[in-house]
Amino acid sequence: MSAAAPGGSAGDRERTASLVRAFHDRFGLPPAFAVRAPGRVNLLGEHTDYNGLPVLPMAIDRGIRIAAAPQPTDLVRLENLDPAFPPRRYEVRHPIAPFADGDWGNYHKAAVQGLVTHLGPGPAWRGGLFAVDGDIPAGAGLSSSSALVVASALAFLAVNDVSVDAVELAELLPGAERYVGTLSGGMDQAASLLARAGHALRIDFFPLRVAPVPIPGDCAVVVCHSLVRAEKSAGARDAYNRRVIECRLACRALERGVGAAVPGGLRTMGDLVGMFPGRPLGAHVAVIEDLLPDRALSLGDVARRLGTDAGALATACAIPAGMADEFAVVRRARHVLTEADRVDRGEACLRAGNAGGFGRLMFDSHASCRDDYEISRPELDALVSIAADAGALGARLTGAGFGGCTVNLVRAADLDRFLRAIDERFYAGRLAPGDEPAGHRFVFSAAGGARVFRVA
Ligand code: GLA
Repeated sequence: MSAAAPGGSAGDRERTASLVRAFHDRFGLPPAFAVRAPGRVNLLGEHTDYNGLPVLPMAIDRGIRIAAAPQPTDLVRLENLDPAFPPRRYEVRHPIAPFADGDWGNYHKAAVQGLVTHLGPGPAWRGGLFAVDGDIPAGAGLSSSSALVVASALAFLAVNDVSVDAVELAELLPGAERYVGTLSGGMDQAASLLARAGHALRIDFFPLRVAPVPIPGDCAVVVCHSLVRAEKSAGARDAYNRRVIECRLACRALERGVGAAVPGGLRTMGDLVGMFPGRPLGAHVAVIEDLLPDRALSLGDVARRLGTDAGALATACAIPAGMADEFAVVRRARHVLTEADRVDRGEACLRAGNAGGFGRLMFDSHASCRDDYEISRPELDALVSIAADAGALGARLTGAGFGGCTVNLVRAADLDRFLRAIDERFYAGRLAPGDEPAGHRFVFSAAGGARVFRVA
C-alpha cells in the first residue's frame, strides 16, 4: 500500500492531529506518516476462517492509529498514548525474541518479524519511532489486537519506504500474528485491510478473496459488550487453540468418512466445497456423526475409531504437548459445517435486501456457537435473549467468544426501543454508579479499510 492524502471525518482528523502532537511531545520531532487500521465486527461465520470457510465481517469506525518517523538505525521505539501500556523498545533482528507473554509490544514485533521473514533481509530494515493510539474496547472481540498488527505493519513498511499490496499483506499477517501464540485464522487482518465503507465483506480463504456485500440501509448494527473480557493472549487463547485442534481432528475423521473422494487429503474442511460442488456442507455432518459419538473423547479413543494410531494422529494434527486429552470433534464439525452454509445463505439474504432472513441466521448462528462450539457465556446468552424480546432482527455473539460482545441487527425505526431494553434489562444493575451503558454498547457504521498517509 502507498501513502495517500489524509481523509476521514472531522473527528477522525482531530484524533490524528492530537496523535501527531503527542508524537512530537514524546520524541521531539514530527512524524512523517500516520496510519489508521479499523477493528471489525463479524456479522456471520464464526470460527470458520481457519477451516478455510467464509466469514462476513464489516470494519467498524473505531481503530488503531500509529504516527511514525524513520530512524537511521534498527532501533524501534514504541509509545502508547494509553498509560496502561508502557513504552517499549527493541532492535529489528531475525529472529526477534518476544517480550513477556501478554505484553502489548509483541503485536508490533509480530508484524515486523512477519514482514522481515516474508520480504527477506534484502532492504536494510530500519527501525523507527512509533506513537500508538486506539479507541477499540480491548477484550471485546472487536479485533483490537489484529488492528494493532495491521497498523504496525503499515507503519513499519512506511518508514522503510517499502510498499506491499493489501491482499498480499492480508495473506501474510495472520501467520505473523501466530507470534503471540494464538492459532487464529485470517478474518481480522483481511477485514481491517480490505473493508469497504457501507458494506460487509465476504471473505474466502486459501487463496484469500473478498467481495463487498451491501448492508440494508434501514438497519443499524449494534454491538453490546457483555462486560466479560475475552483476552486473546490469556485464558481464551487456550480455549481457542483447542477448537482449532478439534477441527483438525474433524478433518481426519471426514477424510476417512468420505473415503475415495479425498485423493490428496483434506487440508481444511473448506476443501469439501471443491470436492462436492453444489452440495451444502451441512450434508457432511452425518458422515462424522456416523464415525464418532457426540461427546468429548480422548485422542486414543478418536484414533481407535478412525482405525489409526494415536501418535500419528497427534503428529498429523500438530497437537501441542500438554493439551488436555479431551476432544469434542463431532459438535465442533457440526458448528463449522452448518455455519459455512449460513454464511452462503446470509450473503444471499443481504444481496436480496432480506434483513429479516439474515437476522434469523444470526440467531441460528448464536445457538450453534453456544451448543456445538461451546464458546458462549451466560452474559452473552442473556444479551441475545433480551435482543430477541426487544425486536432485534438478529443477535449473536461475535468474534472468538468466551466473553466480549454480541452483534445485533436492528431496524432503524426500532433502535431507541432496543437500546432502552438492553440498558434496563442488562446494564442496569451490572454497572457501577456513573458508568453509563453508552460506554458499553455502540451503533457502528461499516468503515473503509486501513490507510497510510503522509503527515505534512
Ligand atoms: C478471532 C480470530 C479470527 C476468527 C475469530 C472467530 O477473532 O482472530 O481469526 O477465528 O476469532 O471467528
